[in-house]
Amino acid sequence: MITQFYIFNAQQASELSRENSARFAKDYSLASVSALDLLSTKQAAFEFSENKLSLNLNLDERITQLSFDFSDGEVGFRAARVSKSNEVVAKAIGCKPHYRPKVLDATAGMGRDSLIMAALGCEVTMHERNFAIYQLLQNALDDFKKTEDYRQLPGQLNLSNIDSAKALLTESIDVIYLDPMFPERKKSALVKKEMRLFKLLAGEDQDADELFDWALHQPVKRLVVKRPKGAPLLGSRKPSHEIKAKKFRYDVYILGA
Ligand SMILES: C[S@@+](CC[C@H](N)C(=O)[O-])C[C@H]1O[C@@H](n2cnc3c(N)ncnc32)[C@H](O)[C@@H]1O
Repeated sequence: MITQFYIFNAQQASELSRENSARFAKDYSLASVSALDLLSTKQAAFEFSENKLSLNLNLDERITQLSFDFSDGEVGFRAARVSKSNEVVAKAIGCKPHYRPKVLDATAGMGRDSLIMAALGCEVTMHERNFAIYQLLQNALDDFKKTEDYRQLPGQLNLSNIDSAKALLTESIDVIYLDPMFPERKKSALVKKEMRLFKLLAGEDQDADELFDWALHQPVKRLVVKRPKGAPLLGSRKPSHEIKAKKFRYDVYILGA
């Protein structure tokens, strides 16, 4: 897992990138690294290209960049609107024709599921505890909030750098949504590169049962847990019902707050 973070300024970086880097390095007390090939597998370097933040990591002795984008690609706004998985998510979180629950996505990650829920019309509060993932996600969200796509989004997205298991809920929430990391059973080379980078940063969420226990004790109507197909129940607790998709399932706990 990555334990040391740096800032990297490419020689040809623009003035704006250099200003952003300097501010970021100061805010988070990051030392600078002069060349990316100096990074070990336990180190990573943030880099600004204009306003876009990315993270350089050493994956299999190659420097690989990770950044998030809400407007584009698999995670993107259009993908969220047309995605088949939004029907499954809608069912799991209990959307009704004239009702959209207020959701706390307590394991925000890349923000994919949050975006689908916001595209369904939900107000979504996102928590992400990992410093680097939070920074990449906040940067992507700041960019997304400047777009016409965000203005057209029926729901809302707001993110905090919080460990959910230690959070005191100060707003009223209908549904807590959990999708902790799960140890991959396939050979690592077969796992998507993005997921491997993600695991280098976030680890495997070995404390997911504690998060589950915290969620069960919150004043919410429903707790929804996304699990890979075949994964054991969190906290060995049987759900009220289960919704199956192709590669994963939702364990739904009706709590009745
Ligand atoms: C599998 S990813 C979630 C992916 C996400 N559902 C998506 O659609 O992109 C799990 C994420 O939850 C975060 N996480 C795990 N436990 C957490 C906790 N107690 N509080 C906040 N974030 C947590 C991890 O750092 C990781 O980024």
